[in-house]
Amino acid sequence: MSEHGSFNGMRPRRLRTTPAMRRLVSEHRLHPAELILPAFVREGISEPVPVSSMPGVVQHTRDTLRKAAAEAAAAGLGGIMLFGVPREKDAIGSAGTDPDGILQVAVRDVKAEVGDDLVVMSDLCLDEFTDHGHCGVVDERGRVDNDATLERYAEMARVQADAGVHVVGPSGMMDGQVRVVREALDGAGHQDVSILAYTAKYASAFYGPFREAVDSSLQGDRKTYQQDPANARESMRELALDLDEGADMVMVKPALPYLDVLRRVADAVDVPVAAYQVSGEYAMIEAAAERGWIERDRTIMETLTGAKRAGANMILTYWAAEVAQRLNRGE
Ligand code: PBG
Repeated sequence: MSEHGSFNGMRPRRLRTTPAMRRLVSEHRLHPAELILPAFVREGISEPVPVSSMPGVVQHTRDTLRKAAAEAAAAGLGGIMLFGVPREKDAIGSAGTDPDGILQVAVRDVKAEVGDDLVVMSDLCLDEFTDHGHCGVVDERGRVDNDATLERYAEMARVQADAGVHVVGPSGMMDGQVRVVREALDGAGHQDVSILAYTAKYASAFYGPFREAVDSSLQGDRKTYQQDPANARESMRELALDLDEGADMVMVKPALPYLDVLRRVADAVDVPVAAYQVSGEYAMIEAAAERGWIERDRTIMETLTGAKRAGANMILTYWAAEVAQRLNRGE
């Protein structure tokens, strides 16, 4: 041992010498079964519409969504999270509670395609359906009315569960939303439908491209209901409430700027923890890679591995299908 080595002869580089050695000592590995594909389906279109700020992502037609779901199941993905884009939007988001609204139709389509082979999830929120773009109903003074919104969420939970969804994902950050959704599901005989609660959801600039994906023209911002990026401890309060109200799984969102929150949540719970790698995280990497400024595939794997290392059991990512295929090829 040279005088430049460490005192006890330990040389950490020994375990990095070959690909096989590095594989052997790897602490975390990604698996297709823990990846969830968020997918958009738009009412009344005959061809998929590309989302320009998310190269490679489209608003699906009913047909192409079915194909995407079949491919996701074949690749061994864990789940698919559906977002509906209705033809008509209004102040209360009527399409979100219409049994024949696009999201409910899409759930039935996907269930018919994949049955129980893939966990089928639906976003439970009003922003895709409202003309003002808020996640809830707005009162005369322009404020998002928490308790009036909860009534809408209860109705959404019922119609989504009636359509056959396995998991609902309440993402509107209204106080009491998990309790109201659980009661609505149970009251309608849907005891087996699970709740993936968006527990720590921040008022993030990283949701920008998503607004294009769901044709939303948000007036104002979401700062009175989504969390302030400066706050981490507050997430522990949201977590305690969601668990108390009946969340089966909890989520932190976005992923990359909130890995500390993910770690805190993962350390604190005994339920599965999800991370959502959001639209802006996707766009940022695709854009930099397009310019040749970063290595695309390595960057994608590194960000996903980072979320796992920080404690995520499941990751929602728009790259889910592509990454699963890569993993299946043993790359
Ligand atoms: C709310 C919802 C949003 C996202 C997922 N669910 C938008 C928002 O809260 O503003 C964003 C996801 C993404 O950016 O990829 N329905």
